Amino acid sequence: MGYFLIGVLVVVLFIGNVIEEANGEISPTVLSKIEWMNKRGPYLGIVAPNNFELNPLLASQAYVPYPSLPFIDFAGRRFRFGKISNQRVVIVMTGLGMVNAGVATQLLVSLFRLKGVLHYGIAGNADVNLEIGDVTIPKYWAHSGLWNWQRYGDGIDDELALEAPGDYTRDIGYLQFSKYTNGSDNLLNRVWYQPEEIFPVTGTPEVREHIFWVPVDKSYLNLARQLEDTKLPQCVNTTCLPRPPKVTIVDRGVSASVFVDNAAYRTFLRSKFNATAVEMESAAVALICHQQSIPFVVIRALSDLAGGGSDMSNEADIFGSLAAQNSVDVLVKFVGLLPPYGSKIQSE
Ligand SMILES: *[C@@H]1O[C@H](CO)[C@@H](O)[C@H](O)[C@H]1NC(C)=O
Ligand SMILES: *[C@@H]1O[C@H](CO)[C@@H](O)[C@H](O)[C@H]1NC(C)=O
Ligand SMILES: *[C@@H]1O[C@H](CO)[C@@H](O)[C@H](O)[C@H]1NC(C)=O
Repeated sequence: MGYFLIGVLVVVLFIGNVIEEANGEISPTVLSKIEWMNKRGPYLGIVAPNNFELNPLLASQAYVPYPSLPFIDFAGRRFRFGKISNQRVVIVMTGLGMVNAGVATQLLVSLFRLKGVLHYGIAGNADVNLEIGDVTIPKYWAHSGLWNWQRYGDGIDDELALEAPGDYTRDIGYLQFSKYTNGSDNLLNRVWYQPEEIFPVTGTPEVREHIFWVPVDKSYLNLARQLEDTKLPQCVNTTCLPRPPKVTIVDRGVSASVFVDNAAYRTFLRSKFNATAVEMESAAVALICHQQSIPFVVIRALSDLAGGGSDMSNEADIFGSLAAQNSVDVLVKFVGLLPPYGSKIQSE
């Protein structure tokens, strides 16, 4: 009997522990490290999508890790501290896609004292006038993966499901699948692009606002204009691009948790949205920074033609590493343009 009770007690305590360890809260140890680091802020937050783009930054001579506390791990993310030129930085890798990018950026801006966020990486290119290796800095970003998929038979003058209460809209437009069939009509009908529902810190909690195009910070964008004469490498080993890559301010970029390797959709994104950079994270970073009132800008090097190249290969295989390195070089140069630690750049 006594042994039985002890057994029950052990099982209860064990389950108790398991439940406690399933908690995602910030431990006191981690919290004290965060507070300690925040006393040394504010930092410039740097957000990289994947290892492919993070590693060249960590390997760069420009990055000097903070010696006494080079990183803090939390929620499956590593927040690395160091300096790039005269800026104190905290660097985080998001992982693939919109959810990862949103979560990592929200953690970054909520946990650390920041003066701004820089996001960089590689992207697909939807603009025939630009080349692989070119580095783009779009003025606006949109999430192009929030859709209202219209029922078959309805046309452009029919209200969408849940349009009346303001959940969905026809203002942004649609993609019509039947335009892309070769022959008869198409049961997939249309998807209508939707703005994101947002809850900015400056608004009322739980009262939604809507945004589709998220503008990058004007002062960062003005600084970025100084990057347009940057010289970048043209060859990977013996494979060379037709001309040296350039840095260019472009109109728009779009993101969705969709890898675009499709010529027809690439052409659509260009003609519908004037998109240049097509990728999977930037709009999530933009949406978080916008809602948290944190200035941000995105630097994305074009690594492939999003399906517009030859159907033999996706160009990222050859020029992906050059594009990733170009995005890091331009990022580092941009950081060097920022006013020294502590001071704020002039807002417009
Ligand atoms: C449409 O189909 C025809 C016949 O199958 C084919 O020859 C043509 O290349 C197709 N066009 C496109 C744009 O795929
Ligand atoms: C370029 O050369 C290096 C060293 O030989 C090699 O490791 C790398 O894979 C090459 N890159 C490409 C894209 O061929
Ligand atoms: C599209 O973007 C280019 C710059 O990339 C800009 O010059 C042009 O005005 C934009 N067009 C529209 C219709 O917004």
